[in-house]
Amino acid sequence: MAETILIKNGRVIDPANNLDTISDILIEGGKIAKIGKNITAEASQYIDASNKIVLPGIVDMHVHLREPGREDKETIDSGSRAALKGGVTSVLAMPNTEPAIDSIQSIGILKEIIKRSAKIDVFISAAITLGRQGNQLVDMKALKDSGAIAITDDGASVEDEAIMYETLKMAKKEGLLVIAHCEDRELSAGGMVNAGFTATRMGLRGISKESEYLRVKRDIAIAEKANARLHIAHISCAESVEIIAKAKKRGAQVTCETAPHYFSLTEEAVLGYDTNMKMNPPLRGSSDRLAIVQGLSDGVIDAIASDHAPHTDNEKEIEFERAEFGVIGLETILAVSITELLVKGALDWSGLAEKLALNPARILGIDKGTLGIGRSADITIVLPQEEWLVEKKGFVSQSKNSPYIGKRLKGKVAYTIYSGMIAYSGISKNQAQEH
Ligand code: DOR
Ligand code: ZN
Repeated sequence: MAETILIKNGRVIDPANNLDTISDILIEGGKIAKIGKNITAEASQYIDASNKIVLPGIVDMHVHLREPGREDKETIDSGSRAALKGGVTSVLAMPNTEPAIDSIQSIGILKEIIKRSAKIDVFISAAITLGRQGNQLVDMKALKDSGAIAITDDGASVEDEAIMYETLKMAKKEGLLVIAHCEDRELSAGGMVNAGFTATRMGLRGISKESEYLRVKRDIAIAEKANARLHIAHISCAESVEIIAKAKKRGAQVTCETAPHYFSLTEEAVLGYDTNMKMNPPLRGSSDRLAIVQGLSDGVIDAIASDHAPHTDNEKEIEFERAEFGVIGLETILAVSITELLVKGALDWSGLAEKLALNPARILGIDKGTLGIGRSADITIVLPQEEWLVEKKGFVSQSKNSPYIGKRLKGKVAYTIYSGMIAYSGISKNQAQEH
């Protein structure tokens, strides 16, 4: 049963409606019923949001939930709980599961699991090619009709240009978003860390920036030729930002995301062979990190997505070269963004809400990311000044491979409201009553 919740005196941020003001919010029947000052209503729950920030629930458009097939890494249940702890109320699940999400059958299996165990909205992306092998296109119409909203071979690029062209043409016709993982495997093959001094010092093969940005360039060119829309996943280097900025200027229908690790960490972090710093694309140089921050603040980069990529200790606590690529991120996406972007002045609260909720919702074409009246009440309430230590034992996610373990972050989720219910509370009695 949906309850009536009255949120009092929070600083309400809703960029879709140009809102940044101290206000109350009334939630009824799972929806936002009223926003305004001095709302009085009989409610079953009251939240004192004074000194807190009230944001649209985070929409994380790049999440590996690993189900079906790799339940040892994460499940839709554990991933949903991790999301709620991080203030995330909607995710786009990546299709590189086992089996890959490339057929009506596999979407059917996934939908069953979502229905049974999701505690947030889990949107479905399907593969572009069968088995993500890069050869044969999926049946886009069938997958769209079964509920996929996007397609991606994430984890791999579509190497064949003709297939990528066909993908963009067909996806346009079917109304599916194409998400490109940009990596030229001929250039990156065998690479482990950023090419250059880090790779040399560590005695490992490098993943060059060219392997990313040349593919960004190629995929945008193909999208322009097909007159189609393209979203580029997890950009990590300055050249990609520049290429996308230019493409946007000339009117290409391109959007992109980055992940918190690319604006908060650099390749220096990997020199100690910490496998929690190993991901693909890899951490880059400090000028790349600054270009990503700049791209976020000037609008070239549309969205922040976690690229939550859980791996077990068995796959991470081993030699660097054998360890899997990827880091978890659902529980830290907001705090890292606050610590690195808001506190340092690159984005204000509205800007942050745009990158974390509004823009990803718009890119995905889903009715999320705003606090508009009548919308589903997905709301994240934040204690902006609260500092916390990231500890391995503190993670709800089934996997613990976070690059932030041992670091202090600013900004803590006080409450996550999903569909009009308080789905997570991270607040002590004292903090709840603080004025
Ligand atoms: O680091 C990564 N991990 N990059 C990817 O593209 C895939 C992901 C995964 O699935 O583990
Ligand atoms: Zn990827």
